[in-house]
Amino acid sequence: MPRDLDGRFLRTGPNALGVEDPRAHHWMLGDGMVHGVRLRGGHAEWYRNRWVRSSQVARKLGETYPGEVPPDDFACNTHVIPYKGRILALQEGGPLPYELDGELNTQRPHDFRSTLKGAFTAHTKYDATADELHAVAYYPTWDHVRHIMIDRTGRVARTTRVPVPDAPMMHDFALTEKYVVIVDVPITFDAEAAEAGALVPYIWNDERPMRVGVLPRAGGSARWFEVDPVYYSHTLNAYDQGDSVIVDFTSMPAPFYAAGRGNGGPSATGSPALDRWTIDLRAGRVRSSRVDDRPQEFPRVNESLIARRHRYGYTASAAAMWTAYETVDGVPPDTKFTNCLVKHDFLRGTRQVHRFPKGAAASEPVFVPRRGARDEDDGYIMSYVNDPDRGATDLVILAAQDFTGRPLARVQLPGRVPLGFHGSWVAA
Ligand SMILES: [Fe+2]
Repeated sequence: MPRDLDGRFLRTGPNALGVEDPRAHHWMLGDGMVHGVRLRGGHAEWYRNRWVRSSQVARKLGETYPGEVPPDDFACNTHVIPYKGRILALQEGGPLPYELDGELNTQRPHDFRSTLKGAFTAHTKYDATADELHAVAYYPTWDHVRHIMIDRTGRVARTTRVPVPDAPMMHDFALTEKYVVIVDVPITFDAEAAEAGALVPYIWNDERPMRVGVLPRAGGSARWFEVDPVYYSHTLNAYDQGDSVIVDFTSMPAPFYAAGRGNGGPSATGSPALDRWTIDLRAGRVRSSRVDDRPQEFPRVNESLIARRHRYGYTASAAAMWTAYETVDGVPPDTKFTNCLVKHDFLRGTRQVHRFPKGAAASEPVFVPRRGARDEDDGYIMSYVNDPDRGATDLVILAAQDFTGRPLARVQLPGRVPLGFHGSWVAA
């Protein structure tokens, strides 16, 4: 275990608490549970998992919810990030973030010193140079989406309303030094589905074009570009290059059904892959290219380079993730590329694959810089990887510069961490 690692590796995901009818449950809506490992001085001190205490979770656990319950209250299940000495659990589409302490106990809803009015996002972008936290938020009843900039004081300093019709579901966006890239995916709020009791009343809307909006970071209006429909899943990173904006991201072929068809899970006509958009602002067009067509997701980058040019990126692939997308009318995933972590070198156009045994399941790879690092990839990759032989999960730590080599450390956890969503290294 590297001795310079002093902090917590945290990852969250939906862990439904007290589901009475699994058929009526939606995969996106499980109560958020954060799984964490505390590392210090070359040792793993503890592993713990805690549900985020929304009012509903507190009630189900027989606890008292302290204070006033915020509107759209939910046990945030999508991301967990460090922000100015705090740990925030995040959710898109309405709920406020929840603040956790270092032992993963829920403290209180977080509204950025009373400056956040309404919905936030799960996929923020922290620009380390500017010390700004950016978000693009959506909400079913809004006729716009909001670009929210939180400045170095931890307060919302600017909110830009960008008119967008039909209330789309915007899971992620991208940030460069100059621009906010808004992705208007044709998955829109469906009032009929909501009335009929759909838990996630968002449908793929064939009538609607797919657009990419480029909004100056300082505010103003967005310039829109139409692109071929695709499900924009996650941003790896984005940056400015001359008169162009480069966006690296994972996508799934359209159409994508968040609620699935028949089986309740998500479904698409294929598995996710890694793509690049080159948004040429001078010529007024977007060029789309495929970086890697093998199934992979959960793209990450050295976070100090968010909004700036990166050379390396990291993704995960797990067979269990892709089976979720297999449907009668879908294309089965490429089974030749499963259960691994991938390091992409965008400069050379090459990649390295760290494979795990069949039945393992690697989750999102988080890059952690080594203390005193100068090179972009001088650091560690951390991921929860299921060990099928043990029936439990390991925290696997790789040296990012020796990606295919033996892991530096493998912390055997006492149980299985289910495949979940996103997380972070939270330095002490
Ligand atoms: Fe996500």
